[in-house]
Amino acid sequence: MPSIVYLNGEFLPITQAQVPVMDRGFLFGDAVYEVIPFFNGVGFRLEQHLQRLQYSLDAVGITLDLDWKTLFSQLLNVNPGTHQAVYLQVSRGVMPKRSLRYDEDIVPTVFAYSYPIQLALGGDLAQVAGVTAVTVNDQRWGRCDIKATGLLANVLAIREAHQRGVQEALLVRQGYLTEGASCNLFVVEQGRVYTPLMDSHTLAGTTRSLLLELIRDAGIECIEQPIAVERLQQADEIWISSSTRGVLPVVQVNGEAVATGTPGPLWLNVATLFQQFEQQMLTEHETSR
Ligand code: PDD
Repeated sequence: MPSIVYLNGEFLPITQAQVPVMDRGFLFGDAVYEVIPFFNGVGFRLEQHLQRLQYSLDAVGITLDLDWKTLFSQLLNVNPGTHQAVYLQVSRGVMPKRSLRYDEDIVPTVFAYSYPIQLALGGDLAQVAGVTAVTVNDQRWGRCDIKATGLLANVLAIREAHQRGVQEALLVRQGYLTEGASCNLFVVEQGRVYTPLMDSHTLAGTTRSLLLELIRDAGIECIEQPIAVERLQQADEIWISSSTRGVLPVVQVNGEAVATGTPGPLWLNVATLFQQFEQQMLTEHETSR
């Protein structure tokens, strides 16, 4: 059965969903997006995702008034999977002519689809193998705080990582770490957690903000500051975070093991807190039914 997607007010099979070639998302990457996990139908950090979506829409000047929560629950209901992620994309819309200028009355194209996912960190944390990575020059534009679809630099970073035989690319701009190709970054040194400051070179991750809360509530020091790339060599632990992956340990960077080359104790501690948060989210949902 082909999955059912949402396109401009309609629910239809993915095989029938089509966007005109003159859509500005296709021609210019003139579009923003979100990826939102739903566990048992409950949106993970849903309010934060919706706030960031509005931030991206405002930043590029796309005006829309849609009931996102209703749209998401309708989409989840017509597709299989206890846990699903929703990909939502809003482009500026279609114009008759290819031109950087656009008409103010242009109608945005809204597309959403969902696909089954696993609970992030749902299994035995002792079985998590860890991620291998390389550092890659951050070639993205100057507004990475907007979750925009123009991801060519991210695609090339992951391509380079795969060509070098690893899974993840850690991005470096002028000697400082920004984030991963589709995730945020944490570095542990002597029991303290460090993470790059959020600015126009980084995306304010919804998982990152949850982790900051969990880490600080646990009485562990977490410092937001610029992180020079050399610090990776001495790091006790390195983690990445995103909505679909939760928080994962990086065990090798540029061919060198991170400390012992296995997931570190502070990661295990924080990943356990993360798991508990997820479980609590599911339990609260069950009891409120
Ligand atoms: N990516 N940084 C970048 C560049 C990202 O693309 C993402 C998310 C994050 C983490 O944000 P969050 O914790 O809110 O998922 C950081 C999504 C998952 C994606 O593009 O698939």
